[in-house]
Amino acid sequence: MEQFAIRGGRPLTGSVAISGAKNAALGILAAAVMADEDVIIHNVPDVDDVNILLETIADIGATVERLSRHDVRINGSTLNSCVVDNTFIRKMRGGYYLLGALLGKYHQAEVALPGGCTIGTRPIDQHLKGFELLGARTEIVNGMVVAKADELEGASIYFDTVTVGATINVMLSAVFSKGRTVLENVAKEPHVVDVASCLNSMGAKIKGAGTDLIRIDGVEKLHGTEYTVIPDQIEAGTFLTAAAVTRGDVTVTNVIPKHLDCITSKLRDIGCTIEEYDDAVRLYVKKPLKGTKIRTQPYPGFPTDMQPQMTVVLSTVNGTSTVNETIFENRLTYVDELNRMGTDISVEGNIAIVNGVPKLKGAQLSAPDLRAGAALVTAALAAEGDSVVDEIKYILRGYEDFAAKLRQLGGRIEMVSSETEARKFFMQVV
Ligand code: EPZ
Repeated sequence: MEQFAIRGGRPLTGSVAISGAKNAALGILAAAVMADEDVIIHNVPDVDDVNILLETIADIGATVERLSRHDVRINGSTLNSCVVDNTFIRKMRGGYYLLGALLGKYHQAEVALPGGCTIGTRPIDQHLKGFELLGARTEIVNGMVVAKADELEGASIYFDTVTVGATINVMLSAVFSKGRTVLENVAKEPHVVDVASCLNSMGAKIKGAGTDLIRIDGVEKLHGTEYTVIPDQIEAGTFLTAAAVTRGDVTVTNVIPKHLDCITSKLRDIGCTIEEYDDAVRLYVKKPLKGTKIRTQPYPGFPTDMQPQMTVVLSTVNGTSTVNETIFENRLTYVDELNRMGTDISVEGNIAIVNGVPKLKGAQLSAPDLRAGAALVTAALAAEGDSVVDEIKYILRGYEDFAAKLRQLGGRIEMVSSETEARKFFMQVV
């Protein structure tokens, strides 16, 4: 079982290039199968979730060719099955975008119920509601979501809750629905906009992505395109918080600074210095940091996917902070792990009360999910002494070359596969 061995206590410094956005890539790769021509996608992150989706797309017959590590060619003309099921896809979430894509294109889809990080119950009722309003029949049979339609017709759909997944999924099927579809109370995340932009570059007619209302005029066909995935806002935010918690000086490059405002504004509030450039953001710490209040919200609010990383920073600043997780009901379980490093955090319902402590101590840790796992790694880099983080399979799902990028910033971290290897690393590292 792979683990990260980490020797903490050194500020991270330097610059690091951010990869393509995982959650945008998942939607875009599913969208690509909707055309019967070549769709070439650039800046595809080489992370497990994306690679599983690519293998799954190949499994159902579409042509998938890796042109290079971050460039993929997909052609949906060879697709021969609308049944999407394998042990890996059941463990991730993004596979459910094939529901919207296949239902739109072939009027039928059968996709294994999505898994993903265990951060809450994560229902898919809003996806199904959207498909049904477009004219599909949906049911869950033996762990598979089955959606079928004789015809799909544009409709007015108001989502009961703001959801990234349902917004993207229903948008995908509405692209091929007859007439106009209006989606209201939609998610405005940069990756929603990115999926819409890619679809538009394939000939779709989508307007309003990035606002509360998306209007889609159905088309009969999509054509090939060449498209570049946006940089990963959450990966960039994770490196910025890693810089903050280690009191370092890090520049994230290849980013869209505007997408990071929701994160950098909070880092500024607590006393970090942020400098913005055209496609880079620098964070450094030149004065003592102080506590704040965080409430996770859909974009442009503070992202739930940055909540654990920000809590780690707050655990080391002066004063008391509160962190209110409003999106997922079970996304504070990592606090027990963190407290083993000497933090002083208590949880009441979905609120973490964080009393800053001057120092973190290394510990044996376990990653409970993707973002909390990454947060524990940043805590270990800041801590005095040595830590081992296991269950890093979660982290590898969403961060490309995580350890290598941290090493580039001076972080002492190594992926090891046994206690012996970890001991060896700790003996040799300076
Ligand atoms: C996406 O999950 C991301 N995953 C998550 O990223 C991210 O945390 C989340 O959006 C919020 O930003 C992917 O893009 C693959 P939602 P998703 O639908 O689509 C409720 C990461 O770390 N809801 O926006 O599953 C739901 O329970 C991952 O990269 C319904 O009630 O999230 C939640 O409370 C973790 N019914 C809220 O909406 C539905 O039908 C937002 O969920 C759908 C969602």
